Amino acid sequence: MAAVLMGIGGFLPPKAVTNDDLARTLDTTDDWIRTRTGIRERRVVADGLSTGDLAVEAGTRALRSAGVSAVDAVVVATTSPERLCPAVAPEVASRLGLDTVAAFDLTSACSGFLYGLATAGGLIASGTAETVLFIGAEAFTTLVNQRDRTTAPIFGDGAGAVVLRRGEADEPGALGAFDLGSDGALADLLAIPAGGARQRSAEGGLGHGTVPTDDWYLRMQGRPLYTQAVERMTQSARTALKRAAWAVADVDWFAGHQANIRIVQAVAEEMGVPDERVAVNIDQVGNTLAASVPLLLNDYAARGDLRAGQRVLLSAFGAGLSWGSATLTWPDIKAEPVG
Ligand code: COA
Repeated sequence: MAAVLMGIGGFLPPKAVTNDDLARTLDTTDDWIRTRTGIRERRVVADGLSTGDLAVEAGTRALRSAGVSAVDAVVVATTSPERLCPAVAPEVASRLGLDTVAAFDLTSACSGFLYGLATAGGLIASGTAETVLFIGAEAFTTLVNQRDRTTAPIFGDGAGAVVLRRGEADEPGALGAFDLGSDGALADLLAIPAGGARQRSAEGGLGHGTVPTDDWYLRMQGRPLYTQAVERMTQSARTALKRAAWAVADVDWFAGHQANIRIVQAVAEEMGVPDERVAVNIDQVGNTLAASVPLLLNDYAARGDLRAGQRVLLSAFGAGLSWGSATLTWPDIKAEPVG
């Protein structure tokens, strides 16, 4: 028994922000952002769009790709939920017309897609669900200080979704071996300090003191994160390959989390994956956290570069710290461009 991928979809909000657009309000340049990160532009939420809207659009496309109109559970991986409480997944399920199915959110920042795949696979393996709609959705730019040149250029908004069903381990689309890990001792390398139980607003009923404005936004220590990302993704991807009994030469596509093109390339180089097998779309979307890997897979599948039978190695790393990798043989499914 295995969880098998049967549909995929993605959605980007229409508003594009180029590096030159950012350079109008930030002390930065297109050249700096492109050479340090590989990003040319990113999409951002505007006009009232938020995480739930992006999730509904991506979910609609994944259901269409799968050819189904009902599932047993909806899981949303997000680090930019609509609100602290409740989770966004029940609302997404309801808006998708999925009635009263099981629905919950999962928070694992940029490794959210890998943790979510494992969780969705677990729901299927335990017999709790026959089919799961799993969505990675983020409006994370709303949590980034747009006056901070060290973080504002990096992130983008979007959503990617997959539908999984119960099937056999030797079927194309079956989720293969996983590796998941974390290191909470380094949580402060990438964190939003305020807004949770520890640091509430000054106005909040009991009054827990004044929270500095900056604490409501992302704080990032780029250099040590970069080093951790390369080490952890490489190690994790190698472990997943070993568990799947795949050689590096078996990998047709390395689909790594799009945090920084230099991170993705460094991991691929460490592992010996040649450039032509490294999937990249960060130039168009930036770092979309939990939406990153499914948007990447959707892009490659929609334009026919990712084909049925090809072997894919997924890997991601992010806040927590947390990371994960998995192997997957691509199934014969339809994918449409994100538009
Ligand atoms: N435009 C122009 N200059 C900038 C800048 C910007 N947007 N952001 C920072 N700089 C400056 C810095 O102030 C610094 O100047 P200094 O040398 O005068 O002090 C210089 O550029 C180099 O900064 P540094 O932070 O050392 O650059 P870097 O090569 O490490 O690249 C990141 C910065 C953020 C791109 C890189 O560290 C990174 O990608 N880290 C991982 C981040 C990540 O992936 N986060 C999500 C995890 S999933």
